[in-house]
Amino acid sequence: MAPMSFVATVDDRVVGHVLLSATRLDAPRRIVDVLSLSPLGVVPEFQRQSIGTQLIAYALAAAESQGVPLVFLEGSPRYYGTRGFEGASAVGFRSPSLRIPEAAFQVARLSAHEPWMTGTFVYSEVFWAFDCVGLRDPEA
Ligand SMILES: CC(C)(COP(=O)(O)OP(=O)(O)OC[C@H]1O[C@@H](n2cnc3c(N)ncnc32)[C@H](O)[C@@H]1OP(=O)(O)O)[C@@H](O)C(=O)NCCC(=O)NCCS
Repeated sequence: MAPMSFVATVDDRVVGHVLLSATRLDAPRRIVDVLSLSPLGVVPEFQRQSIGTQLIAYALAAAESQGVPLVFLEGSPRYYGTRGFEGASAVGFRSPSLRIPEAAFQVARLSAHEPWMTGTFVYSEVFWAFDCVGLRDPEA
């Protein structure tokens, strides 16, 4: 599945960015190509103007148009829960790390999703290489 990257601009200035990375779902039937939405960022002085919301909507529409069945992410359920995402554990998916708080592990199920597509969400090597998965506990 091709990764995708989008920017938001205001007067030719880049003020926001979202990345969709190629990842996998280890489903009972076979490996399924899926995407991970990470990171999402909006320049501080442009926050709270719906730019993040529009970037998420644009990214999900792009994934939908590519026939991607699922988009996963780690983030605030308060923010993403009203923007197309739901708790992933509750709908049959297993987190790739015990360091991801359960509420943060979320998924958007798109129209190509089929009921058998459950299982473990698997990050690609680069997420591990840069230690970008879950939360670290420096006291542990
Ligand atoms: C999270 C982020 C992308 C939201 O982008 P945005 O364009 O400001 O978001 P929107 O305008 O679409 O949505 C507004 C909502 O986002 C939340 N929000 C936005 N900026 C925020 C901030 N600085 N602090 C706390 N919450 C914030 C609020 O819940 C806000 O809701 P409200 O309108 O009821 O106050 C942006 O704050 C950001 O870049 N944060 C730093 C990077 C980050 O945390 N990325 C998410 C990684 S999972």
